[in-house]
Amino acid sequence: MPTDDEINKLRAEIDRHNKLYHAEDNPEITDAEFDALYARLKELEENIKPGESSPTMKVGSKSSKGFEKYDHLKPMLSLSNVFNYEEFLKFEERIIKRINSEDITYSVEPKFDGIGISITYENGNLTRAVTRGDGITGEIVTDNVKTIKKIPLKLEKEVPEIIELRGEIFFRLNDFEKINEVLKNEGNKKFVSPRNAAAGTLRNLDLRIVKQRPLDIFFYGLGGHSGDLNIESQEEFLNFLELNNFPINKLVSFGNKESVKNSVDSILNSRESLDYEIDGAVVKVNDFNQQNKLGYVSKAPRWATAWKFPASEKYTKVNDILFSVGRTGIITPYATIEPVLLAGANISNVSLHNMDELKRLSIMVNDTVLVKRAGDVIPQIVKVNKDMRTGQEKAIDIPNKCPSCAGPIGIDGPFLKCNAGLTCKKQLFGYFEHFVSRKAMNIDGLGYKINQHLIDLGYVKEVADLYKLKNFESELKSLEGFGEKSIDNLFESIENSRSAELETFINALGMPEVGESTASALARHFKSFKNLRSADYDDLMQIDSIGDVVAKNILRFFESDPVGIDNLIQELVVKDFVVSESSHLDGKKIVITGSFNEFSREEIKDIIKEKGGIPSSSVSSNTDFVILGENPGSKYKKAVELGIELIIEDEIKNFLKV
Ligand code: IVH
Repeated sequence: MPTDDEINKLRAEIDRHNKLYHAEDNPEITDAEFDALYARLKELEENIKPGESSPTMKVGSKSSKGFEKYDHLKPMLSLSNVFNYEEFLKFEERIIKRINSEDITYSVEPKFDGIGISITYENGNLTRAVTRGDGITGEIVTDNVKTIKKIPLKLEKEVPEIIELRGEIFFRLNDFEKINEVLKNEGNKKFVSPRNAAAGTLRNLDLRIVKQRPLDIFFYGLGGHSGDLNIESQEEFLNFLELNNFPINKLVSFGNKESVKNSVDSILNSRESLDYEIDGAVVKVNDFNQQNKLGYVSKAPRWATAWKFPASEKYTKVNDILFSVGRTGIITPYATIEPVLLAGANISNVSLHNMDELKRLSIMVNDTVLVKRAGDVIPQIVKVNKDMRTGQEKAIDIPNKCPSCAGPIGIDGPFLKCNAGLTCKKQLFGYFEHFVSRKAMNIDGLGYKINQHLIDLGYVKEVADLYKLKNFESELKSLEGFGEKSIDNLFESIENSRSAELETFINALGMPEVGESTASALARHFKSFKNLRSADYDDLMQIDSIGDVVAKNILRFFESDPVGIDNLIQELVVKDFVVSESSHLDGKKIVITGSFNEFSREEIKDIIKEKGGIPSSSVSSNTDFVILGENPGSKYKKAVELGIELIIEDEIKNFLKV
């Protein structure tokens, strides 16, 4: 029997990945790994009634901030899955039972790997474009969607007063690559996939950026509408779309169950030659009457299913195995391979992660390897085909000095590591690039190429040299990519950064595994940079969200000082952290229960302590507040019984004043 704890943990984990994927466009795990977690939860929930808050009962993720919200006329649902013909036949059996007829025609369409959108026309005019959101409520992104010139602003033919049309927004692969090139040159993080790029662009608040990126769309579905449409099938609906000049996909076909397999195969076969990503086919009952009879189960229609394609895998040849040096000195092996097109992307480099992975694969230069990429995910080498060895294979040249600076290297767990710090140009580049990036000190006008020039030409020998760039003003003006105006902007931006918030500065230092949220926990706890710098292990471990590994990383960072902190703090003023005016939590006993999307429990605890509150583990009549996450359990019941004030996730920021 599964324990409640196991189920709750899994639900929280799935919720977290859902949020990373849908709301933050920043997935941490592969689709296949997500499917496995989801399948496990389904299995555990088999004998219990999951309740509405379980991710198995929800669609997608909650809306995020920034865009106005809107309730779809008809919910935007998701799809059940089949992976082969047997499973499809079972799907069809269920249909036959319900409608009592075997006379069924299906439409078979590509499943576009983009972002679902619902576009409303009122009296024939485009009035609103809304993302899927949680399926019920989405975000209004009309202006961003209107940048897609293919979408008609008016419907030509007689149409109902109000109609929602559904489609998928995506990027073509060459456009995706161009966008990433630009991001890289500007020194920004690249998108991991065309789908993430589409999600990020669709929900970008800066219309100027959206306009520079050629989003595209296919329409495939009917949402809610008023009055009579006189459209009786998916086929007629797609014709209606075409007549009204909506972009629809040419690979759609119609037929009975015997032809479905061929249609799916034919879509699968054309997958590699498409210039956009698909991750399966969608099989829909064609007849709208039959669709209506079939209706929905919890979050998916009974009349449609997604026939998912396997991840793409291909054999190719390893041309070389090289080693790259990152900011922290970690040396990562990677294979350069004979380029292969996998799930829509051209792959020519594959990371080999670390020395353990080299051992696992026992890979050699010139080997034939199986490379896999599942849609969204970073490519990986599955295995080496040793039967294909010809004797031409060469052992890997494992470096005995740093490939960037030729300095001595050491071993750190499964990694090789260059310990040269800032004298290693690759590390200096990494720290410098991070320091000036948008999320850190946010210096305008620097990017990948320019940063590299600054370091190669010796203008930047340590991070603090950013503040001495003015000495090279005339030299900089002659550099490619710099005009008079951009130089002025650059210097202004550098000057503005001379006064920095403590948390921004800590984040900008780029300590291993210290991102924005840990930086802010450190700032809140230590209040000044001086305090943080002199903290010892025990001081650091006082912070709930910091564990042994991060504490040691921080200590090691200050000891080895790879950025040159003394010189840096000569150049700028790091402001002390000021506790916000209120001490509204002073002495208040606060219990946290359930799981949260936006914060970890440790983070919430840290903030409470910081603000003078007392995190407590059990609810009693002395408890002042209970902060309530999802799947809260018995503490929630008790709090309700005792009439204690409840704070739900949406209210946390307000409540904590963060
Ligand atoms: S029909 C209720 N058709 O896949 C029917 N969806 O996993 C669901 N998708 O939310 C929509 N290509 O964003 C449909 N040809 C297609 C599709 C498609 C991609 C997306 C859509 C949907 C998701 C479900």
